[in-house]
Amino acid sequence: MEDVGALAALASKAFSDTYRGLDEPHEIADYVAENFNTQTVTSVVSDPNATTLLAEVGTELAGYAVLARSEPPSCVSEPSPIELARFYLAEQFIGHGYGAQLMLAVHTEARRQGAQSLWLGVYDRNVRAVSFYERQGFTKRGGKEFLFGGRVYIDPIYASPVRNEA
Ligand SMILES: CC(C)(COP(=O)(O)OP(=O)(O)OC[C@H]1O[C@@H](n2cnc3c(N)ncnc32)[C@H](O)[C@@H]1OP(=O)(O)O)[C@@H](O)C(=O)NCCC(=O)NCCS
Repeated sequence: MEDVGALAALASKAFSDTYRGLDEPHEIADYVAENFNTQTVTSVVSDPNATTLLAEVGTELAGYAVLARSEPPSCVSEPSPIELARFYLAEQFIGHGYGAQLMLAVHTEARRQGAQSLWLGVYDRNVRAVSFYERQGFTKRGGKEFLFGGRVYIDPIYASPVRNEA
């Protein structure tokens, strides 16, 4: 990928915008500094067990998704699962159908990799994302611990079959 710096900037801003008002500002800043610095983003982009998809609108970077070959939680009993580890649009691109387009690309890539199901964890207070995932065919399977700001949250876990024709 040519411009990891641009992706790191987008990922940082999208994360901060999404959770502003839902979490403490210093906890958001700490998480962003740890997870979306250029070095960490570079390691995700070059990780052979992860695939980063970029959403571009014209020449602008509008969003990104990360698929990861990780160990699913026990509540995910679907065959050949792959994790949808990140799924974010920049604020100005939300509400125009680009989320649905990016999800289509996620299904296409998951299918290309031989996965039969997608799973993800989402913060339950992120109601916009929860309702998006439900509209996209994901259903709740259980919960999984998520460490944020020194506290353990139980994030709901959702899963969906990979679409046959995406
Ligand atoms: C989750 C997310 C990617 C979904 O994207 P989205 O743009 O909200 O969802 P869609 O692509 O389905 O777009 C739907 C909206 O676009 C509108 N729209 C406009 N043109 C459209 C078109 N051509 N096709 C489809 N929808 C269109 C729909 O009416 C709908 O509006 P509404 O939400 O007011 O009803 C986005 O909300 C986001 O990035 N949120 C912040 C990050 C986040 O929370 N990520 C999840 C972390 S787990």
